[in-house]
Amino acid sequence: MGDVVQIEKHGDVAVITLDNPPVNALGIAVRRGIMGALDEVEGDADVKAVVLIGKGRGFCGGADIREFGRPREEPILGQVINRIEAMDKPVIAAIHGMAVGGGCEVPLGCHYRVADGTAQIGLPEVKLGLIPGAGGTQRLPRLIGLKPAIDIIVSGEYVGSEKAKALGLVDEIIEGDLLDGALGFANQLIADGKGPRRIRDMTPDATGADEIFEKSRATAARRMRGLIAPQRCIDSVQNALNLPIDEGLQKEREYFSELEVSDQSKALRHLFFAEREAHRIPGVPKDTATRPIKTSAVIGCGTMGRGIAMSLANGGVPVTVLEVDQQALDRGLVMTRDTYAGSVSRGSIKQADMDARLALISGTTSYDDIANADIVIEAVFEEMELKKTLFAKLDEVCKQGAILATNTSSLDVNEIAAATSRPQDVIGTHFFSPANVMKLMENVRGDKTAPDVIATVMKLSKDINKVGVMVGVCNGFVGNRMLYAYRSQAEFLLEEGALPQQVDKVISDFGFPMGPFTMGDLAGLDVGYLVRQHRREIEPPTHRESYIGDRIVEMGRHGQKNRKGWYLYEEGSRTPVPDPEIEELIVGISRELGIERRSVTDQELLERCIYPLINEGAKIFGEGIAIRPSDIDLIWIYGYGFPRGKGGPMFYADLVGTRAVYETMKNLYEEHGEMLRPAPLLEELAKAGKSFAELQAETKIG
Ligand code: NAI
Repeated sequence: MGDVVQIEKHGDVAVITLDNPPVNALGIAVRRGIMGALDEVEGDADVKAVVLIGKGRGFCGGADIREFGRPREEPILGQVINRIEAMDKPVIAAIHGMAVGGGCEVPLGCHYRVADGTAQIGLPEVKLGLIPGAGGTQRLPRLIGLKPAIDIIVSGEYVGSEKAKALGLVDEIIEGDLLDGALGFANQLIADGKGPRRIRDMTPDATGADEIFEKSRATAARRMRGLIAPQRCIDSVQNALNLPIDEGLQKEREYFSELEVSDQSKALRHLFFAEREAHRIPGVPKDTATRPIKTSAVIGCGTMGRGIAMSLANGGVPVTVLEVDQQALDRGLVMTRDTYAGSVSRGSIKQADMDARLALISGTTSYDDIANADIVIEAVFEEMELKKTLFAKLDEVCKQGAILATNTSSLDVNEIAAATSRPQDVIGTHFFSPANVMKLMENVRGDKTAPDVIATVMKLSKDINKVGVMVGVCNGFVGNRMLYAYRSQAEFLLEEGALPQQVDKVISDFGFPMGPFTMGDLAGLDVGYLVRQHRREIEPPTHRESYIGDRIVEMGRHGQKNRKGWYLYEEGSRTPVPDPEIEELIVGISRELGIERRSVTDQELLERCIYPLINEGAKIFGEGIAIRPSDIDLIWIYGYGFPRGKGGPMFYADLVGTRAVYETMKNLYEEHGEMLRPAPLLEELAKAGKSFAELQAETKIG
């Protein structure tokens, strides 16, 4: 037995303590240590009961996920848990803090569970494309019933002590010192002559089982579209009902092993690390002191301003919203209240949450009221002159040290910063619509943005439960610049022979929530039209552009908002219906352009949309606008709905192979010209037979 597991006797009770900082991960030393400790207490006739407890921040954070994908040394966790369960002396898990993954399965092998008020218990494996692999899917349903077990396993969410007690997942909540309470519990068992109570001997309640399984599958298919692990979790829980436990455990292990080597799980594990990696930023050391953010302000209470204000309030940051006049302000605040009320009526938040969040949002039309804000986020119209005037004003009124942020989706942050006398305090915080829902904050550092401003905004992203990714300045930044590369190809495909419904189906089958044309109708077509007209006035296009989208707007079709866009929408419906008028328009435009329409295969269509997206990503990374390929993946997963199970565009490129992507790009370039020229970096990787992940590993930052 090593230091990572210790035994101490308290009267008749042996206390086995996990001591493997920081989270008592269940590596091989701990697994061996537990086995050794069990041998020792088993042979000790004086020991009548055993308490298993964790030292430090929590009971146990489960396996070290860096171990995944490698062969495990014996004893594997399942064997350790079986051994705990087989003990003749009652074993009590004493839980505080995190008891997750394997750290939840170990207590399920114990005969009793007690917890203090800090406990967070759960099985998050599904979030990494896996299922619990050490008995979680077999023991939890036996203990708490099918439906609650499925809810916990398929969501991957944690439950606190109160809920765990109500579900029967823990037997008792301990007030005061956990070890004292657990010893008291153990001594009571001894006094009452109660021995082991093994979950394996329990039978799950089968009432309504068929309906439970069917409904859970449908919900998982809808909420976690295209992902295999949630369905496998349900299969495995079903085995808990239908098979003897040892067969169920065997099957669970098989499912786990299959998933562990699957592309989906690799993709989800990649994203798990990517989120942590994104916080390492060149020029911003980890220990950079951040500025305190206790108060905030948002300028503009339109679509984005409202969403940003709600995001801040949801994260507990008080926010003052400033509008041009009282009428616009009132309208914005009423819409904010309505959005929260909608969430309450859907049951996603409680009335008390709504009240608490609304209490953090106040409105004003006076700059005096925002002078003391620690951060001001601007979300007025996308016009450079307006933004410059506004930032000059903020420079005048805001306290020294305030962070001045812009939500611009494409304008030059350096130019905006130059309108102030403090460009070091200016930064981009690009939220995505609807900002209260979408998790991405594409944060944009200007040439002069101070390191502590960068560190503060990245921390704020996390504090308000967003995924922050830091990028540099270029037209459209990372996300929208790539979006442009992808959307323009989708439109050229229409000119060449495809129809919107074909493109949308291929993209949606790939795993995006919807295709580009359905998306356009949802977002509204008129805004983009105005932006394009404006851009063409300033800078006449030098490359091929498609005009189909413009014609559609000129026909008075603005998308879902007037029930006509790329598709038709029936009154009150959001279902796109293909419109012969649009087909006629598209065929007519092909004729005008002298393009002979041809049939486009689904495979060609997919490659023509997704590979240019990857190619643009490679250019952006090559130019140093994105810090690393995995940052680009996060942006596309959290801002644009790229399918999680494919890990983001750059990870997907690695799955396909950089060489295959490059070869296709080369052919497309030869056929279609400059816009599809392969990125130099892609060419380099393809020729070296290297992946983006390998390149990233070689150039690790921080
Ligand atoms: P919006 O038109 O819905 O709202 C703009 C609001 O700003 C209006 O309520 C207007 O009254 C207010 N406003 C204008 N001038 C003002 C001033 N001087 N002082 C105070 N308030 C003023 O526009 P939206 O869509 O919210 O966009 C805002 C910004 O967010 C733009 O820069 C846009 O590019 C960016 N953005 C928009 C996204 C979207 O999907 N709509 C996504 C990401 C960024």
